[in-house]
Amino acid sequence: MGKQKGVIESKLKETRVFYPSIEFSQKANVDADEYERLKRWSETDWEGFWRYFALKKIDWFKRFDEVFDGSNPPFYKFFVGGKLNVSYNCLDRHVRSWRKNKAAIIWESESGETQVLTYQQLYIEVNKFASVLRTLGVKKGDRVLIYMPMIPEAAIAMLACARIGAIHSVVFGGFSSEALKDRIEDAKPKVIVTADGGFRNGKAVPLKSNVDEAMERVEHRVSYVVVVRHIDRDIHMKPLRDFWYQDLMGDPDYAQIYCEPEHVDSEDPLFILYTSGSTGKPKGIVHSSAGYLLWTMLTMKWVFDIKDEDTFWCTADIGWITGHSYGVYGPLALGATTVMYEGVPTYPTPAKWWELVEKHSINILYTAPTAIRALMRLGNDWVLKHDLSSLRLLGTVGEPINPEAWMWYYQIVGNEKAPIVDTWWQTETGGHMITTVPGAQFTKPGSAGKPLPGIFAEVVDMGGNPINDPDKGGLLVITKPWPSMLRGVWGDDKKYIDVYWARFKDKGYYFAGDGARKDEDGYFWIMGRVDDVLNVSGHRIGTMEVESALVSHEYVAEAAVVGRPDEITGEAIVAFVVLKEGVDKSRHDELVRELRDHVGREIGPIAKPSEIIFTDALPKTRSGKIMRRLLKDIAAGRKIEQDISTLEDVSVLEKLSELRDKLREEMNKGENGNSG
Ligand code: WTA
Repeated sequence: MGKQKGVIESKLKETRVFYPSIEFSQKANVDADEYERLKRWSETDWEGFWRYFALKKIDWFKRFDEVFDGSNPPFYKFFVGGKLNVSYNCLDRHVRSWRKNKAAIIWESESGETQVLTYQQLYIEVNKFASVLRTLGVKKGDRVLIYMPMIPEAAIAMLACARIGAIHSVVFGGFSSEALKDRIEDAKPKVIVTADGGFRNGKAVPLKSNVDEAMERVEHRVSYVVVVRHIDRDIHMKPLRDFWYQDLMGDPDYAQIYCEPEHVDSEDPLFILYTSGSTGKPKGIVHSSAGYLLWTMLTMKWVFDIKDEDTFWCTADIGWITGHSYGVYGPLALGATTVMYEGVPTYPTPAKWWELVEKHSINILYTAPTAIRALMRLGNDWVLKHDLSSLRLLGTVGEPINPEAWMWYYQIVGNEKAPIVDTWWQTETGGHMITTVPGAQFTKPGSAGKPLPGIFAEVVDMGGNPINDPDKGGLLVITKPWPSMLRGVWGDDKKYIDVYWARFKDKGYYFAGDGARKDEDGYFWIMGRVDDVLNVSGHRIGTMEVESALVSHEYVAEAAVVGRPDEITGEAIVAFVVLKEGVDKSRHDELVRELRDHVGREIGPIAKPSEIIFTDALPKTRSGKIMRRLLKDIAAGRKIEQDISTLEDVSVLEKLSELRDKLREEMNKGENGNSG
């Protein structure tokens, strides 16, 4: 006991606690009293809590009959029998209010070009594109694949799908044609919406040509490809299949200015979004309409404290869940102003983001720790040159934030006046799960905080028993269903059960795949993935996906991929590769380049290993399992202290140990990973 107490005391001394200012709390949407009330309400009258908010926040065409149907776990349903339309909730209700001429989307490019769409303008564009899609034969339940740069048309396409009840599947513009091909084959879209290209780091990125390449190799027949003219380059357009977006939108036969919104069921899928898991293929995470919409709205209001006068900027690409929930649906459903930036943080200058904050007077900034660390490294001057006094709230997502980066964000970016919300959630959870509510709770750098009202999370041992020792880590689980939870894996119920529910079947817990620790205040400290998923720059990358990309190369016999800690990207990808007999190893650098490019082509630049190490064999247990923990230690340049009695071939270990020193040398050179 005595020892334990000592540990806690020293931890308290280490961890500083930050309270929001009185001004912030007084004006906040949720203060401490309201927070306690919400929390108690969700604990004592769970259904009543959700009923109240669903009725209050969503405009229904038909009210739901039942809040929750848990009769067939884990296939849970919320707001059963209700009819609504998500685009109606994001647009129609605002254009009938004073918000009609309020900015909905403010877009800016790297070159500083801007475009503002008011709610009325966005409403017209979405109606027009929805009627274009209908004219092209897209019906409720059909899939539409969106492969776009960060331009307003991407959001327009998403909302247009929602309007006609089509299910969108947005594929990150940085993914390769191969990744696109897999996603086309899985979701079988009727139409693909893309652009001639996008801009990134001053360079034009081809998108349409990736679509063409993917289409050449898929069996599924996509009826039409709609192409937004954006970078104005000559591209190939296949007659009768490919159409320019601008042509269709200018043709009154296709694009009508009103398109009747489909009345969809609460549980009808709104979208599919692919994410990496611990298998070789990404999973199509399915989200519902009503539950998802409700939670993006509530978290916008509670966690981001959004007010009508705010300009909100979520820096995530629309191809990720963060871009879906907090770039598009959450802000628009609440009638907020959302900023969209097409480009990287450091182009044309390292001050680009701060220029944006100043120029658009951004009030709330939501980004990833990896970006914060990268910008921090460039020095304070870039930040301090700009007037960032508009910022009143900061947020992070995607990976644990190290206290040093937290403090920099707090002091240099937020000028010690903007609280930070560190939001833990996942593609699967639809919206924030564990975080502080900024006007109600104190923050601790490095801890996400507590489960939000309505969310029930625990840290448990392998048997599902809660761990109450604040110094012991365990597995993070969600113990009760929640409205914005995934509804399944597209076309694969078994995977849905196996990945998320099988581990704690008896308890009915959702297994998040993360390790965590819960401290003496009930604050959660997320420790990272416990499965074979890496977190590189806040992006989830399955080691198996990279491994299968590597072994698909003609030179590769075997590959094992692990992560090693990286100062900027959080984790970096290290691949151990066994080459096939006869491959000329003297071409070392060339081989490395070739394999990295190959992974780039197979998945996308974000999955390129930052390190490739050639070895004669991989360390395996007697049963033939690759000893990943060992490889991890080697990749990180750590001393190997593990039990090696299960090692089949100890000499392999010795060989690999030699590599460790080489690695350490290279790490010291300051080489960091590939943030895409
Ligand atoms: C990690 C992104 C620590 C975690 C919304 C999770 C975090 C995975 C945090 C989901 C955070 C996300 N602190 N780790 N605040 N937020 N993660 O699906 O490992 O791209 O399981 O969703 O990112 O990544 P995804």
